[in-house]
Amino acid sequence: MTPSAPADVLPFQSRRLRLLARMAELGGGIAVIPTAPECLRNRDTHYPYRADSYFHYLTGFPEPEAVLVLVSGAEARSILFCRERDEEREIWDGYRFGPEGARAAFGFDEALPIAELPQRLPELMAHQPAIFHALGFDADADARITTALNAVRANARAGAVPPDAIRDVRALIDEMRLLKDAHEIAIMRRAAGISDEAHRRAMALAAPGRFEYEVEAELLHAFRRHGAQAPAYPSIVASGPNACVLHYVENNRRMEAGDLLLIDAGCELDSYASDVTRTFPVGGRFSGPQRDIYELVLAAQAAAIAAIRPGAHWNQPHEAAVRVLAQGFLDLGLVAGSLDAVLESGSYRSFYMHRTGHWLGLDVHDAGEYKVGGDWRPLAPGMVLTVEPGCYIRPASTVPEAFWHIGVRIEDDALVTPEGCEILTAATPKTVADIETLMAEAPRATA
Ligand code: GLY
Ligand code: MN
Ligand code: MN
Repeated sequence: MTPSAPADVLPFQSRRLRLLARMAELGGGIAVIPTAPECLRNRDTHYPYRADSYFHYLTGFPEPEAVLVLVSGAEARSILFCRERDEEREIWDGYRFGPEGARAAFGFDEALPIAELPQRLPELMAHQPAIFHALGFDADADARITTALNAVRANARAGAVPPDAIRDVRALIDEMRLLKDAHEIAIMRRAAGISDEAHRRAMALAAPGRFEYEVEAELLHAFRRHGAQAPAYPSIVASGPNACVLHYVENNRRMEAGDLLLIDAGCELDSYASDVTRTFPVGGRFSGPQRDIYELVLAAQAAAIAAIRPGAHWNQPHEAAVRVLAQGFLDLGLVAGSLDAVLESGSYRSFYMHRTGHWLGLDVHDAGEYKVGGDWRPLAPGMVLTVEPGCYIRPASTVPEAFWHIGVRIEDDALVTPEGCEILTAATPKTVADIETLMAEAPRATA
């Protein structure tokens, strides 16, 4: 079986050209970008393989043991080093492109066997002003660079001149990854659509007496049924008190009537994450206190979404959400004092202790700095961020018992547009009315 090359290699080629142009602006050099290693799970069994996000962004090439080298200058070019074809290994593990197949299918200028990299790298490095490398992330990758550098230095009497600067290649790519191109946005829209179906199915299946893992299975079923390769992160299916554990992943509790169920789950499609949280009553109807908290979080999310537009800075959606939540906590008697005092002291953090979002893309917590030159980064069209306020109430003598164990988060994925933002995950029900209607109409078998 032949694994698929991307149907459209142009987006990957154009990213390589843009990175080369950026390197040239900085004086030129050579970039060395390896993919991820395979990782043993135990003995001879590996974790499912996933390419490194930076490498994928620039190549789309799916095999392990591959390194992309970009050489800037008059003869700027992209060279892939990858495994050779191997009839015996291909019988066991499947098709390999081999250098020539990879060059043709993925549009590299050149492709060479990975075994030649140690010898070729010093030749390619000599006379380049700088090495663009992600220093310190992987010991083997660092060793490859220092070994090659020393090989150039050792050849100095023959006239080889080693690069005298190491620059952070990831910093350059991070800036590119922050602004999604049309190819990326199309995939992220499809990922959002698959996650939407998964959440709807989960709502339809959840019922008192069922286990959280049954709901998790429903999510995974929807992801894979539509071709998503994996969950983008471990799915959180947290009922009752578990909803107040932010990174709960055991997913093994039997749900009870009266529970809320918080599901934070999104698929990874063609290496892009979706990240969606919905919270709903297992029995189909919110109780009064549950509804109070839910409506408050929903209002906080609406305020955050309204704050997303080009030119607004990164922290504005968070500030908007916090202000609504803090006022709501005051109104419900969860905190005391003036609004300013609650914001100033941070007492709202007893119930809302995380931030309102993060960049989203190839990584669920995606690449890109949040501050530039000490200031929050201004939002710009093409950026994708999550909007995920929440409220988590653990038992405490200072809190009315009716609110104990209520945990609510509502999370959507927002694409910044010239006018404001588009919610990629808007189709997934989130008003009280829409959720209760879906659950009432779902043909739910009792567990
Ligand atoms: N699911 C991870 C997050 O929401 O950040
Ligand atoms: Mn998130
Ligand atoms: Mn999430």
